[in-house]
Amino acid sequence: MCGIIGISALPGSLPEPLGRVIRRCLERLEYRGYDSAGIAVVNGEALIVRKGKGKISELAVKLKFDLLDGVSGIGHTRWATHGKPSDSNAHPHLDCLEKIAVVHNGIISNYLELKQRLEAQGHTFRSETDTEVIAHLVEEYVRQGLDLLDAFRKAVCELDGTYAIAMISVLDPCKVYFARKTSPLIVGLCSGFNIVASDIPALLEYTSSVIVLHDGELGYITPTEVYIERDGVPVSWRDRVRTITWSLEMATKGGYPHFMLKEIHEQPLALTNTLTGLDLDTVRSVCRLLDRTDRVFITGAGTSYHAGLVGEYLLTELCGLDAHTFIASEYRKYMNIADENSVLIAISQSGETIDTLMAVRSLRKTGCKVIAISNVIDSTIPRESDHVVYTRAGPEIGVAATKTFTTQILTLTVIALELARMRERLSSTEYSKLLTSLKEIPRLVEQILRIHEIKAKVLARYIKDRQNMYYLGRGLGVPIAMEGALKLKEIAYIHAEAYPAGESKHGPIALVESGFPVVFVVLDDYYVDSTVSNIMEMRARDAYVITLCPVKYAQKLSRLSDFLFELPNIDYRLAPIPYIIPLQLLAYYTSVMRGLDPDKPRNLAKTVTVE
Ligand code: AGP
Repeated sequence: MCGIIGISALPGSLPEPLGRVIRRCLERLEYRGYDSAGIAVVNGEALIVRKGKGKISELAVKLKFDLLDGVSGIGHTRWATHGKPSDSNAHPHLDCLEKIAVVHNGIISNYLELKQRLEAQGHTFRSETDTEVIAHLVEEYVRQGLDLLDAFRKAVCELDGTYAIAMISVLDPCKVYFARKTSPLIVGLCSGFNIVASDIPALLEYTSSVIVLHDGELGYITPTEVYIERDGVPVSWRDRVRTITWSLEMATKGGYPHFMLKEIHEQPLALTNTLTGLDLDTVRSVCRLLDRTDRVFITGAGTSYHAGLVGEYLLTELCGLDAHTFIASEYRKYMNIADENSVLIAISQSGETIDTLMAVRSLRKTGCKVIAISNVIDSTIPRESDHVVYTRAGPEIGVAATKTFTTQILTLTVIALELARMRERLSSTEYSKLLTSLKEIPRLVEQILRIHEIKAKVLARYIKDRQNMYYLGRGLGVPIAMEGALKLKEIAYIHAEAYPAGESKHGPIALVESGFPVVFVVLDDYYVDSTVSNIMEMRARDAYVITLCPVKYAQKLSRLSDFLFELPNIDYRLAPIPYIIPLQLLAYYTSVMRGLDPDKPRNLAKTVTVE
């Protein structure tokens, strides 16, 4: 939530004026929030600030961001927490004398008490945000005689809550000060300039060398220097420089109208890269750990939670483990039953979701070991876990998760297959057969994209005018139904609920009337007959039945369905990946046909770093 950027540059070292570079970096962070945006630069003696409510592209024209120039600058794209989206609440925020400008991602939980104290000391506030206290605190300590670094350090020490902060000042024009606690922040090393940013996509155009800052670190960048300290002691960072393998092209739309569509189409490649790039030594150590454990918990938020549900099913069914998935923000009760004999699998594409991080931290305190599955190298959740398995989906910019969902499931499937073999619950013939089918999945996904995109588009014409919808499935069809419903809800703003199909008759069916769309995900032979009963019940109420099923059941189910996606025949334990594809496409086209921007759904942000 919120994207921040800070750049310190030698004159002439940037390819374009500073304001334009910051604007371009901000556009790559806009998936983190788009309620308002702003830029501040230090130019000579002046601190120039331009900010307002709205999206970056509109503000860039209105406020002429590209014309700003200077030696240092900061930028912000906001997902509102404290104070509604407005011009005055847009970042950067200033001190009274307008010498210090601050951008911030996170929440300062003690800001009210700090604000009252500062107001009593004579400071005047211009916004309703929590962030503004930071600028005034630094100003106060400078007024008391501290130099800027000491004042910044002292101010940061007083902040409770979460933060990634970047600050510039005319008092020390070439430096961008930064601090991090919980909210992500990285430093990008460039030639003649340096950058701090919330996330990797912002930097890709300028560098592939980054340092991921750790909690509790603060410091500054100049055009030629990086200074990091922790608890007042300088930190040596040279061995922490990482080379990012993501390309700039991966973080651009590459000819697609939206990132989401591009990312849906990237799935064959993302799946292949994840499968071939899996570190098998880590997978085996993870399996050994799981093999020894009494109980496995799996956690995540939103889409990652749904991937967790697929993982739970596979670990239970294939490996005979006692596995249980919970929504990350509901971690509290699991602290009572987790212990040193249990394992938590924490799934997070960003590796920064605060709910998942809190679950990791809390369960770790019980002695429970943590395995992270993440798409972002060195992000917080992997760093705080005992083992990490990385997906290789590449950067995902669209707010709706697509390729990271399927690569998370792929990773969980590989772990489950390896463990099932280790526990001799799969014969080597069965294991080889499943592995061969798994390797076929990228090709199947490609085929589904080719055949079913047009069908999803046709169906979207019907769905776009509906207000409610059900997604039903049984077994592994349940998490796929849940994920399909979440996609539609978040980008098309159509109320969509998912249930185990058998549960539909215990209440949900009361809403069904003529034309009410109900999606059935059928992927497991075991459940075909019982699902047919549920389809009949819906048909009897004139529902509009949409079915996803293997080709082998197409004849049987086409008679009962108003719309049918015939999908490849595949072992049901591997079906979740291919079976979600038509539902991703359906949500995408419904959103577009409703005139919405699927990449930037209202009220949402890609990475949720507030509780
Ligand atoms: C999915 O489309 C959502 N935007 C959201 O539910 C997301 O999956 C969730 O916030 C978790 O994010 P993470 O995987 O980065 O932890």
